[in-house]
Amino acid sequence: MLEVRDLVVNYGRIQALHGVSLNVAEGEIVALIGANGAGKSSTMNAVSGVVRASFGEIRLEGEELVGHPAHRIFRRGVVQVPEGRLIFANLTIEENLRLAAAGAHDRRGEGEELERVLDLFPMLRQRLKDRGSSLSGGQAQMLALARGLIAAPRLLLLDEPSLGLAPLAAREVFDLIPRLRESGITILLVEQNVRQALAVADRGYVLEGGRITLDGDAKELLGHELLVKSYLGIHREEVA
Ligand SMILES: Nc1ncnc2c1ncn2[C@@H]1O[C@H](COP(=O)(O)OP(=O)(O)O)[C@@H](O)[C@H]1O
Ligand SMILES: [Mg+2]
Repeated sequence: MLEVRDLVVNYGRIQALHGVSLNVAEGEIVALIGANGAGKSSTMNAVSGVVRASFGEIRLEGEELVGHPAHRIFRRGVVQVPEGRLIFANLTIEENLRLAAAGAHDRRGEGEELERVLDLFPMLRQRLKDRGSSLSGGQAQMLALARGLIAAPRLLLLDEPSLGLAPLAAREVFDLIPRLRESGITILLVEQNVRQALAVADRGYVLEGGRITLDGDAKELLGHELLVKSYLGIHREEVA
């Protein structure tokens, strides 16, 4: 479904990606893992069109995405839930969702999509009139996910959905991911949380300093956990 070849992303004189190649097949959950600064968001943002690729190819079902504006890529069913959630704190949960629905659909489909998404998130249904600012980190992440899903994505790009969440809330987010796949969504998941990301993924890629240094079956990568850990240097974070 998605094929990324030799992707290079530069920010001025900083080269963030040095030729990243990866594939995501239809119906797959693929994890892109790596330490802070490895280039995970840059990869994802190039796919969604939020940042420009300096070199390389990004194909969705064979069609080149490089050079297309983000809104056109979104219209083709590529929906990104960005790092940091970015919900509207002053709007209610319902307003946050209706805004996302209005951006994604013609008016006919809106109500249906809202109901379909609320079925996945009973917590949000109970709190429709509450402001975004009243949500916990985990709840805000659920709202960010719901907002992405309301656009009926075919390829969902999740950028660190567990970042900053308490373990229980992170678990809820990871539990949801296989259910999204069951509903027909293909998923590229970016995470620093190596163990949980590989536990829900079919395959994984390890990104280090803007290069893929390891890839394979998620279970096999989990088996190489020590290797992965040394690649990522997350021992330090765990001690801290
Ligand atoms: N807007 C930007 N301007 C300059 N450098 C950036 C920008 N965004 C990211 N970078 C740099 O690119 C590299 C990769 O960053 P990023 O893709 O955000 O990594 P990750 O998501 O894996 O933490 C880092 O060295 C980061 O400092
Ligand atoms: Mg990032």
